[in-house]
Amino acid sequence: MACLSFPQDFLWGTATAAHQVEGQNVNNDWYRFECEPGAIRNGDTAQISCGWWTGNYRQDFELARAMGQNTHRLSVEWSRIEPSEGKWDPTAIQFYREMLSCLRGMGMVPMVTLYHYTTPLWLVEKGGWENPESISLFARLADKVVDELGDLCNFWCTLNEPFGIVHGGYIAGTWPPNKQDLPRAVRVTVHLLRAHATAYWAIKHRQPDSQIGIAHHVQLFEPANPRSPLDRMAAGARDWVVNRLFMDAPRYGYVAVPGGLRIMVPEVIGTQDYIGLNYYYAMQTAFDLGRPLEAFGRTVLRPETQKLARIFPMTGDIDPKGLEYFLLQAQPIGLPVYILENGVYEADETNQSRYLVTHLQAVYRALRAGLDVRGYFWWSLVDNFEWNDGYTPRFGLYRNDLQTQVRTPKPVAAVYERIIRENGIPDDLIHAYGR
Ligand code: BGC
Repeated sequence: MACLSFPQDFLWGTATAAHQVEGQNVNNDWYRFECEPGAIRNGDTAQISCGWWTGNYRQDFELARAMGQNTHRLSVEWSRIEPSEGKWDPTAIQFYREMLSCLRGMGMVPMVTLYHYTTPLWLVEKGGWENPESISLFARLADKVVDELGDLCNFWCTLNEPFGIVHGGYIAGTWPPNKQDLPRAVRVTVHLLRAHATAYWAIKHRQPDSQIGIAHHVQLFEPANPRSPLDRMAAGARDWVVNRLFMDAPRYGYVAVPGGLRIMVPEVIGTQDYIGLNYYYAMQTAFDLGRPLEAFGRTVLRPETQKLARIFPMTGDIDPKGLEYFLLQAQPIGLPVYILENGVYEADETNQSRYLVTHLQAVYRALRAGLDVRGYFWWSLVDNFEWNDGYTPRFGLYRNDLQTQVRTPKPVAAVYERIIRENGIPDDLIHAYGR
């Protein structure tokens, strides 16, 4: 059967994050936030979720393996590994060793993220990422993790979406520590970059053959009215803040902040072995003087998105060309690229399959243009705890019954399995779901 073929050895997987799947995390800032009335949609908490802490990861990895997935991206929970400052918990370390051994035993390549949004409470008490000490504390975590897990993994992501950490915690204020404070946002940006660089070298010295990078959050910003200079300016400003700050720093060694100021971070240069992209949405942007914290931009959803948004509030428009755009943008950097997250929540029988196929068509076009794309991770393997939105948006290939912990495949699981087995997108799937 004709098929858009992908390179041999292409990594096909899914991504998860510790706090979103493990359950029973009580020693980090998100747990504390979830306990506040009204913080999370429907009062949900991550306390049950997918029960990985009690061993359910085994059944989920088995589901992934049975589909032919050859990799899985997961994160370790800092507050479990280091429950109080400088004290390591051997039980938690053993748990992650078993998890990685399980993946490897099933023939899957593990990729480990060191920080996926959750901060241990002891570090929160010290000011979290606002405290410059967070840089060396994070590097010490990296040291420890590589010492303990390095025989099982050499594929690392230091930070998940550093811009998300800054935006959620210090600009929008919707995530812990719930601040809206630009000077702090800038400080945290610089600390995160330095923490990444220090962790990079900590890992590299121990594991010269490791692959280390950042999962960059990218969104396509287009002017709502392409003829309006103000809309174009706002879209450009959002693109610069959201997509460029963290992506450019490892190339140029500085962070360009509002006011034309450059904060030098030369130690960040050359601290990525690959470019990791998390792409979900595009956003049409209109100029709005009343929104200085959003780079004077307001998101204008397309009519088809507004329809979907009646089922669940959408943050952006579905647009696969955004993925192609960012893949091609990465080309001059000259590093291999991994799509570390891409996906959409279940809205009807076919929307996830359409999203998967159309976005993989975009990846295929980038491959044809000569880009070195090495892997694709769908977000996510199983429906899990979606931060402020609790369990409402369901991004998984599998449904999860929170009470019984029974998993049920969604239609997209079969579509992804076909693609993985063919190592490409078969024609019939393109006819059914593609563009
Ligand atoms: C985050 C995930 C989150 C996903 C879907 C990503 O930006 O890294 O943790 O669950 O978006 O909302």
